[in-house]
Amino acid sequence: MATTMKAVHYRRYGGGAAGLEHVEVSIPTPRKDEILIKLEAVSINPIDWKMQKGIFKPFVPNKFPFTPVSDVAGKVASVGRNVEGFKEGDNVVTVLPTRNGGGLAEYAIASSNMTVKNPTEIPAAEVSGLGIAGLTALKSLELIGAKFDGTGTPSNILITAASGGVGHYAVQLARLANFHITATCGARNLELVKNLGADEVLDYKTPQGETLASPSGKKYDAVIHCGSSLPWSKFDPIISNNGKVIDVTPTVSSIFTYSLKKLSFSKKQLLPFLLIPKFKDLQVMVNLLQDGKIKTLVDSKFPLALAKEAWLKSMDGHATGKVIVEMINQNDK
Ligand SMILES: NC(=O)c1ccc[n+]([C@@H]2O[C@H](COP(=O)([O-])OP(=O)(O)OC[C@H]3O[C@@H](n4cnc5c(N)ncnc54)[C@H](OP(=O)(O)O)[C@@H]3O)[C@@H](O)[C@H]2O)c1
Repeated sequence: MATTMKAVHYRRYGGGAAGLEHVEVSIPTPRKDEILIKLEAVSINPIDWKMQKGIFKPFVPNKFPFTPVSDVAGKVASVGRNVEGFKEGDNVVTVLPTRNGGGLAEYAIASSNMTVKNPTEIPAAEVSGLGIAGLTALKSLELIGAKFDGTGTPSNILITAASGGVGHYAVQLARLANFHITATCGARNLELVKNLGADEVLDYKTPQGETLASPSGKKYDAVIHCGSSLPWSKFDPIISNNGKVIDVTPTVSSIFTYSLKKLSFSKKQLLPFLLIPKFKDLQVMVNLLQDGKIKTLVDSKFPLALAKEAWLKSMDGHATGKVIVEMINQNDK
């Protein structure tokens, strides 16, 4: 086996795509509970480039150079001495800890506790999308009582930015939960989002779309807000008296609103959301994908050599579904 690999890292906060450097580094060695994965596909999430911009500065990254990206899929290359249940060649998917990153490379080290086997017939590109985006959709919907076998109470919900990485999974999962879904997206994706399962779609650039109000006039029991931050005054008129807004892009202002609502015992709530990836949730998402109950929309695929273009594509904020980087080189195909 080779001892070095291609990787892409950055050396300081800021710099965007131009700050990414292609390097040759040593292939890491798994410790006793870890797995070395030969990566086939990884998906970029906004958190990856937001970290480069310094959203968690100075805590994460706290050392440079830093190899970004957490959502990865590939084949087991080797396992640490305590790892059971995985063998070389197994197809796997995992979410690498955000603080470690490591996904924009040919190999990455994963914790065996967070690694899920991926049935061979699902392409790595599709499975790699499930991590941060899929789990955010799953957990935020669970917060409002979704049961993905459809046994929960039907709710009337709004999903914003429904064509994005999080939103496109959220629409499909909300459909499985039998929710009535209004979704916002750009004009070019209205039909696509309807096909994913939305009952009503709003073009976010129209006056009606800007209000976020349901075309059928019903108030929402909940909002899964995946778009950029909005003031509480946008949500207040469109949610029911017990309505909840799950804010997956929380800001200082939304955390302030959350505290205010708590202190005033308001029945209307704004809940800032922060994902903590868990094995069992990733397993749920892999099973749903395997069973054909959800799919991953792939916006675009780039080889590792064009990682900067993938980075730019994600930073642009207009992906439909997931932006994927593939490690398979032409000789492997
Ligand atoms: N809190 C957490 O733990 C957590 C976890 C995951 C993600 N997030 C955050 O959630 C947000 C969404 O992530 P993502 O991966 O889904 O992003 P994404 O894939 O980059 O979202 C892009 C999509 O959003 C659409 N969009 C942009 N502005 C919109 C608007 N005002 N109304 C409706 N649609 C709009 C775009 O449509 P057009 O191209 O038509 O403009 C595009 O299809 C990001 O800010 C991310 O950082 C947070």
